[in-house]
Amino acid sequence: TRPLKVALLGCGVVGSEVARIMTTHADDLAARIGAPVELAGVAVRRPSKVREGIDPALVTTDATALVKGGDIDVVVEVIGGIEPARTLITTAFEHGASVVSANKALLAQDGAALHALAEEQGRDLYYEAAVAGAIPLIRPLRESLAGDKVNRVLGIVNGTTNFILDKMDSTGAGYQEALDEATALGYAEADPTADVEGFDAAAKAAILAGIAFHTRVRLDDVYREGMTEVTAADFASAKRMGCTIKLLAICERAADGGSVTARVHPAMIPLSHPLASVRGAYNAVFVESDAAGQLMFYGPGAGGAPTASAVLGDLVAVCRNKLSGATGPGDSAYTQLPVSSMGEVVTRY
Ligand code: HSE
Repeated sequence: TRPLKVALLGCGVVGSEVARIMTTHADDLAARIGAPVELAGVAVRRPSKVREGIDPALVTTDATALVKGGDIDVVVEVIGGIEPARTLITTAFEHGASVVSANKALLAQDGAALHALAEEQGRDLYYEAAVAGAIPLIRPLRESLAGDKVNRVLGIVNGTTNFILDKMDSTGAGYQEALDEATALGYAEADPTADVEGFDAAAKAAILAGIAFHTRVRLDDVYREGMTEVTAADFASAKRMGCTIKLLAICERAADGGSVTARVHPAMIPLSHPLASVRGAYNAVFVESDAAGQLMFYGPGAGGAPTASAVLGDLVAVCRNKLSGATGPGDSAYTQLPVSSMGEVVTRY
């Protein structure tokens, strides 16, 4: 069988782990897929950076040429951000490749258009790594629960803010002190805005709500409130009520099924709720559906190797589809429901 050719766009924390695992697990991946996978090229911004374990001959700064040339079967996009990722993905579809992406910002903004193009061209678009790193969520919601009816998704989908809130809860520290510790330990970035103001969680909420409710939700539809104003006193009050405070992504279907809400804000949750026990930088997503009842997905939501695990799972799925001539589930069977950011839906625990 001819090898399947993979172009890797981006070789940072996640991309370098994807390349490493593709090499070290090459035999296992070939066995799972039914054909070997070959890394055909790695597009980077800074070619001079030393990348252990990656053949320098594969490294290029010309991502467009890599995607367009050489019969690429799968493009793995781990660059992040809107451009040039969007143009590279559309170019990939137009040149015969399917795409695995970890790009939550792009999917939350342009997921619908990208899905439409993928379907028109007969390609796959998979993005398990875009929401909550290693935790399987996209495929469980899209495939395993496709015969059920999901009513609510409650998620701790940002590890940095969960670390900060957990620290405040367990030590009585204030927000700034807990943020400083998260920064020192490398959880929070130098500019923590995307995490602490809830933008990162809102992008993930948009993706989860769209998939869970078979509709389309964009980042702009999501009500967003960060957690920078949560104080030590708030935690003390929460404790008196038998609760803790988490930054939650809340996606709900209205009782009449006619609309959905998606929002991100700090929320009090009872200590008896499974989400209350999610400590440190871990993520967890609690799903309620008609038939399955309550499910919780838990694990590491960030980091090179955990995120690469999700990317590689997608790579295996997309390669299998390529060999069988099929495409995986897209999102053509959706109904556009009205989306309200707060609406009349009242969260019940
Ligand atoms: N900044 C994100 C987090 C990384 O803290 O969860 C994963 O998207």
